[in-house]
Amino acid sequence: MTTATPITIPDDLKPSDSRFGCGPSKVRQEAVDSLAATASTFLGTSHRQATVQFTVAALRNGIAEMLVLPDGYEVLLGNGGTTAFWDAATFHLVDDKAQMAVMGEFSSKFAKAIDAAPHLGRPEVIEAEPGNAAHLQANAEIDTYCMVHNETSTGVATNPVRPDGDGLVLVDATSAAAGLRFDASATDCYYFAPQKCLASDGGLWIAACSPAAIERIERLAASDRWCPAFFDLGIALTNSRKDQTYNTPALATIYLALEQVSWINNNGGINWSAGRCDANAEAIYGWAEAHELASPFITDTDIRSHVVATIDFDDKVDANVIAATLRANDILDTESYRKLGRNQLRISLFPAIETEDLVALTRCIDHIIEGLTA
Ligand SMILES: Cc1ncc(COP(=O)(O)O)c(C=O)c1O
Repeated sequence: MTTATPITIPDDLKPSDSRFGCGPSKVRQEAVDSLAATASTFLGTSHRQATVQFTVAALRNGIAEMLVLPDGYEVLLGNGGTTAFWDAATFHLVDDKAQMAVMGEFSSKFAKAIDAAPHLGRPEVIEAEPGNAAHLQANAEIDTYCMVHNETSTGVATNPVRPDGDGLVLVDATSAAAGLRFDASATDCYYFAPQKCLASDGGLWIAACSPAAIERIERLAASDRWCPAFFDLGIALTNSRKDQTYNTPALATIYLALEQVSWINNNGGINWSAGRCDANAEAIYGWAEAHELASPFITDTDIRSHVVATIDFDDKVDANVIAATLRANDILDTESYRKLGRNQLRISLFPAIETEDLVALTRCIDHIIEGLTA
């Protein structure tokens, strides 16, 4: 654990909200207040009854509206977060041979899950060094293409593009969904968890599935391929269509996700929320580019994420000390992704984060750097 330097940040430099983590991430106070206000009629009530089912239905519809899903796409949900969804996908989305675009920790974890599945062929892995982008490539042998919209470990974002041919396109949008624009028709399964741009809590997966993906799920679920019920996407499909999950979900997570989706839809949809992320990106990267001792890790602006910023620091200052000092001053979760091993801060630019708070964060970092280099 890196120790903080005894630098005190003056209150007038500090942001109004001090949560800058990339997940779990800032939950808006209005959403928490709204949850608290309905708690006695919603929390602690059965997920098989109308109150919760209406909320799940509103969430499914709200996501379809927010992501501008084409006709026929369906929103599925289940427990276990994105990591559980990866395992479910190995059973009921990948037919035999997948192609994996790997460009960091999360895309590599899914590739490992596919590679380890004994019932599947070995995947084709297209790998880029962390900090670069990996792109899908058309290959007639592939039945399922897998990519990540935003690689949270590095801050690289790649827009989903459908390769020529018949393969399904699965997109891990865990840190992208609701923050980055994309064309849903280029995807067959755009899946995510709500603890990032949806400003909710973890433990749930949500997947926007095309008719082709639904057909694949139905075919594989009806086949003799063994699958634990928890990972069975056929069961998840049946339950989702009834606005339920197979086993008990976290009701607060569902409620807070709906609050965020409604907030976005009521304000103009994905263009509005992505616009907030654009403004946040401008504030952080603009500051870093002009800085003597800081610079954006991702130099190619075409793949530089507008939801997760990774900022490198000159060797003269230790980013771990900056993060620890911010933390000692109650400014949280700016540490770099643990396995990337760079002299770096990682900062969330999600829609819930106010641009003024990011500007205030840069002032706080500058204050620490002045103290460290004095
Ligand atoms: C891109 C990406 N994929 C997958 C995951 C794993 O999500 P979960 O913790 O919901 O399993 C994360 C978590 O940070 C992520 O950022």
